[in-house]
Amino acid sequence: MTFPVYLAPMAGFTDAPFRLICTEMGADGTVTEMISAAAVCFGDKKTFKLAAIDKSEGPCALQLFGHDPSQMKEATERLLEFYKDKTFPGSVDINMGCPVKKIVSSGDGSALMRDPELSARIVKSVRTVTDRYKIPLSVKIRAGWDKSCINAPYFASLMAESGASQITVHGRTREQMYAPSSDNGVIRDVRLAVDRSVTVIGNGDICCGGDALRMIQETECDGVAVGRAALGNVWLFSEIKYVAEGKIYTQPTVKERIELAIRLVRDVVAVKGEEQGIRESRGRAAHFIRGIRGSSAVRDALNHASTLDEFTEILYALL
Ligand SMILES: Cc1cc2nc3c(=O)[nH]c(=O)nc-3n(C[C@H](O)[C@H](O)[C@H](O)COP(=O)(O)O)c2cc1C
Repeated sequence: MTFPVYLAPMAGFTDAPFRLICTEMGADGTVTEMISAAAVCFGDKKTFKLAAIDKSEGPCALQLFGHDPSQMKEATERLLEFYKDKTFPGSVDINMGCPVKKIVSSGDGSALMRDPELSARIVKSVRTVTDRYKIPLSVKIRAGWDKSCINAPYFASLMAESGASQITVHGRTREQMYAPSSDNGVIRDVRLAVDRSVTVIGNGDICCGGDALRMIQETECDGVAVGRAALGNVWLFSEIKYVAEGKIYTQPTVKERIELAIRLVRDVVAVKGEEQGIRESRGRAAHFIRGIRGSSAVRDALNHASTLDEFTEILYALL
């Protein structure tokens, strides 16, 4: 059995260096961190930097968040213009699933699921731009707002009718945030509600090859997106493919894990500079070494490291 396996967008983590590693490990596609349409329209330079895609990366979608159809359209236009002489995104994705208070209180992210009519207008308006650039438009949603409003099947079919050709569904409501476990049933209901010409990607709690296979079998979705479990286990993409093809998968060695953590830190520092790169890498390296003997002491030491040399020395010492 084969099906696409994507890296889910994760703000603060899925930057260009991490996306490249995931692509090398078998991810069929990645997504930028979520980009604020308002900040793009404001001309914020940092936001454009965040949206940049490196030429060495594989297919990467641009993810936008916002709630104003004309602002979302303008931001798409500005960004696609910005990409013209750079690496272009494979598609544009609209964030309709982020549960974070700061985001939903502005009417963005999963707050949009409470206003299907407005969300449809956003999709139609962004689609006028993506059509001009001949790239697909997708949306990422949750099961619904809360247990009294699990509207993903209806919402997804409306987004598809409005112009989304792919829908990624995380099987939790906004109210649930990240617990209890994600519901494959709602992903199946979305697959049943939406025309077969529209791709449905299942998302939520995939931690191993078996989880991915179960999601495909239980929901008949067309592919899966992996989030948190990939943060320290980028080998998960190849694991899922091995398991789906019925092959035996071997876990990475401790040495491979540490070496890849070091590569990620080096790449992040190369892109963002030593100060920011080291600051951002502390938590990220910790994901890579979780469970290795001595890793908690190393995590503490990493919190005090301020240069790339110190950082890599501490990680090598784990070996
Ligand atoms: C730290 C973090 C940041 C995230 N940022 C985004 C984001 O920018 N855009 C988005 O659509 N989803 C975002 N998500 C949600 C994930 O894409 C995914 O839907 C969720 O983590 C469930 O998948 P998982 O169980 O495989 O982690 C984020 C999740 C986490 C944990």
